[in-house]
Amino acid sequence: MTDLTPGTDAVRRHDPAVRGFASDNYAGVHPEVLAAIALANGGHQVAYGEDDYTAHLQDVFRSHFGEKAEAYPVFNGTGANVVALQALLPRWGAVIAAESAHINVDEGGAPEKMGGIKLLTVPTPDGKLTPELIDQQAWGFGDEHRAQPCAVSITQSTELGTLYTVEEIRAIAEHAHQHGMLVHVDGSRLANAAASLGAPLRAFTTDVGVDVLSFGGTKNGLLFGECVVVLNPEKVRNIKFLRKTSMQLASKMRFVSVQFEALLAGDLYLRNAGHANAMASRLEAAVRDIDGVTVVRPVQANAVFAILPREVSERLQKRYRFYFWNEHTGEVRWMCAFDTTEADIDAFAAAISEEMGRS
Ligand SMILES: Cc1ncc(COP(=O)(O)O)c(C=O)c1O
Repeated sequence: MTDLTPGTDAVRRHDPAVRGFASDNYAGVHPEVLAAIALANGGHQVAYGEDDYTAHLQDVFRSHFGEKAEAYPVFNGTGANVVALQALLPRWGAVIAAESAHINVDEGGAPEKMGGIKLLTVPTPDGKLTPELIDQQAWGFGDEHRAQPCAVSITQSTELGTLYTVEEIRAIAEHAHQHGMLVHVDGSRLANAAASLGAPLRAFTTDVGVDVLSFGGTKNGLLFGECVVVLNPEKVRNIKFLRKTSMQLASKMRFVSVQFEALLAGDLYLRNAGHANAMASRLEAAVRDIDGVTVVRPVQANAVFAILPREVSERLQKRYRFYFWNEHTGEVRWMCAFDTTEADIDAFAAAISEEMGRS
């Protein structure tokens, strides 16, 4: 079969004009990424990452993260985190992370169950660790009764829509390394951080001492796919074995790799992330002056967190999808994606205003 002309018995079952604010994962695939997948289709390529697209991807990642970088495409973000963290720890090791970290809250215990990893968590005001906060868990070195803190994991941009500065990450990496710990960045939204900081990706990873990262693609316009990126190959080894035993080795890897090429060979990663960030800023500006709505966290990436009367949120949820972040306080999270439009924001802000007016 050589003719791959599209034709399908499938039926469109959704309205592509409908967009919500629940998650950047609700968005579809960026057309340039879909085009890249089609480009990589047809013919046969060696499976399990020995294909031409994955080979070239190494150069693409090196152009962003430096000559030593090694890229290992995986299926999803939980998998990327579990693979990367396992590489940092011996069997008796533990990872220090913010209490709000995705690895702690939203991965169904996968780091513990699949990776056998002990998480040592610290409450933070804004989703960000600091050297002082790390010290709340960085103790007991050499004591066999305590899981040994061997790594620090931070998220950039954070689960709370906040951002580490370049200097904050440098300070964390220096502090971790002084204690003999390695540094992992959950970069599910690393592109949003690059866009917001106006800095190259390596400026707040490779250049400040990060050892390994989970680089996100799905939230930034890919069909699926994340990448474990090793920045310090002297210290972070054997990812290829851990990826397979962690069930993250894609046989048709060319289709994951070519998506990352589409994202990173040019500036698509920045266009998408910058747009999503700009939409979050637009939303914040639009709701800031609505009486009874309080934006409760700094808007530094593509998320807006707000508190408003619960009954208003519940009425709004009948019109737009979004989640309660904290059922107890009534805090809600509104996420923007690469395909959120200005008209979406304006209509949503008008709906918030209208529902507030009915209260
Ligand atoms: C901070 C963070 N890390 C990782 C992930 C990736 O998770 P998944 O396993 O759903 O791809 C997410 C997704 O929501 C996330 O927000």
